[in-house]
Amino acid sequence: MSLSVKNLISIADLSTEEIIAILDRADKMETIVKSGKPSKLLGGKILAALFYEPSTRTRLSFESAMARLGGSSITVADIGASSVAKGESLADTIRTIENYADVIVLRHPQEGAAQWSSEVARIPVINAGDGAGRHPTQTLLDLSVIRRSQGKLENLNIAMLGDLRFGRTVHSLSYAITRFTDRLYCISPEGLELPAEIAMDLREMGKEVIETTDLQKILPELDVLYVTRIQKERFPTPADYEKVSGIYRIDNELLKDVKPTLDILHPLPRVEEIAPEVDSTPYARYFIQMFHGVLVRMAILTMLLEA
Ligand code: NCD
Repeated sequence: MSLSVKNLISIADLSTEEIIAILDRADKMETIVKSGKPSKLLGGKILAALFYEPSTRTRLSFESAMARLGGSSITVADIGASSVAKGESLADTIRTIENYADVIVLRHPQEGAAQWSSEVARIPVINAGDGAGRHPTQTLLDLSVIRRSQGKLENLNIAMLGDLRFGRTVHSLSYAITRFTDRLYCISPEGLELPAEIAMDLREMGKEVIETTDLQKILPELDVLYVTRIQKERFPTPADYEKVSGIYRIDNELLKDVKPTLDILHPLPRVEEIAPEVDSTPYARYFIQMFHGVLVRMAILTMLLEA
């Protein structure tokens, strides 16, 4: 199955059947990764990684995915040393890169950047994070981990915790997970709530969005706890960040009454939201998420480039 869209900018671009097809394809990709031999599925294809914001996992997992599929990647190692520093517009950079590659993976600080780029580009654009906007490929890997661990996506009790205002991963996750569940718990410090337009969209779709600051109360009911970092770089001043940093911290003491099957996810990087002692509990899923990042990106790349 190929995708009905040319680009992947937002979860809204995908039907629920397409989301499931991506997860199924990702499961199949495990054989290629475990075989240790690159497949030829994307032989000769080139991925351009264009990252205007820091990244470890997203960028390297896309490059790893491409290599596992027999393709190759090119990248701007330091965006400050590219023609962007001479004042080149994003549109001109995109028009340049499309001559060198078959797909562009873009991370940019401005919301909407991936969408505009896809309107300029002749080749597919994948949104790898646009400011405080969206991060659809992270969400697909999150769903892949949840499905593998819980055995389903339907009717799970899921809470998102942390910076729900600026965190792009939770914006994409809200829209995706509510395709399968009717209720979503949102736990954030005051001022960092899920954007009103997202909460309104979900409610209009008949979903129950429960906003609270009290993690302890709902923790025993949860199947999935999705923890996020406070997005320091999006705060107007360091003082505004200091007011909310360190407000939530998950440690073993807090987890003493949780379901034995609880999954704790985090897109990473973590700062202080999850104590290192949690890493060795059966709840920690944030390291396996990185492995699924490669599988899911292999699936997305093949499905976009086959189209
Ligand atoms: C996330 C991002 O960039 O939005 N990181 C990632 O891609 N795994 C989360 C974050 O930076 O907090």
